[in-house]
Amino acid sequence: MSRHVVLVGFMGAGKSTVAALIAQRLGWPCIDLDLEIEQEAGRSIADIFADEGEEVFRARETRALEGLAAREPSVIACGGGVVLKVQNRALLKELGTVVYLVVTAEEAIARVGDLTTRPLLAGAGGTLAATQLLSARESLYRSVADLVVDTAGRTSSEVAESVLTQIREGNQ
Ligand code: S3P
Repeated sequence: MSRHVVLVGFMGAGKSTVAALIAQRLGWPCIDLDLEIEQEAGRSIADIFADEGEEVFRARETRALEGLAAREPSVIACGGGVVLKVQNRALLKELGTVVYLVVTAEEAIARVGDLTTRPLLAGAGGTLAATQLLSARESLYRSVADLVVDTAGRTSSEVAESVLTQIREGNQ
């Protein structure tokens, strides 16, 4: 494998945790796109949304995504909204094997826990907002995915194993 493994999916799907586990198993670096954005901006995602707005956050996200092509093969966890821009979807496809981690809105809300860390869910009424956002995005996640892996009722380790098995079997 010479290209990146890129995880996409809704907030709470477990992308960051699963990416770290896969990276550990492969001995590859793990990149969390949200963390890269926070480091570059010098502030949290919540503060970027509050101070600069979603549009500026999305511009930062695209810039961070563009920088990934030059990095050594890595396992990358993307933010849940990375698929919204057509430009980003094209970039994702070029980066390597894209894995869509599927989660339900209810499970996503339960897993996220502290909603103040997710500006798009924080003020918007939890499960209803998550259901609407997820249904608007579902087809976008599928459109970029080489692999689709369900996370329902599975631990992060089980999901990571499933991703690795499918990559090895060349299912993508
Ligand atoms: C977002 C998801 C978040 C973060 C930002 C926007 C989204 O990342 O990028 O709050 O639009 O779904 P996670 O999916 O890692 O929570």
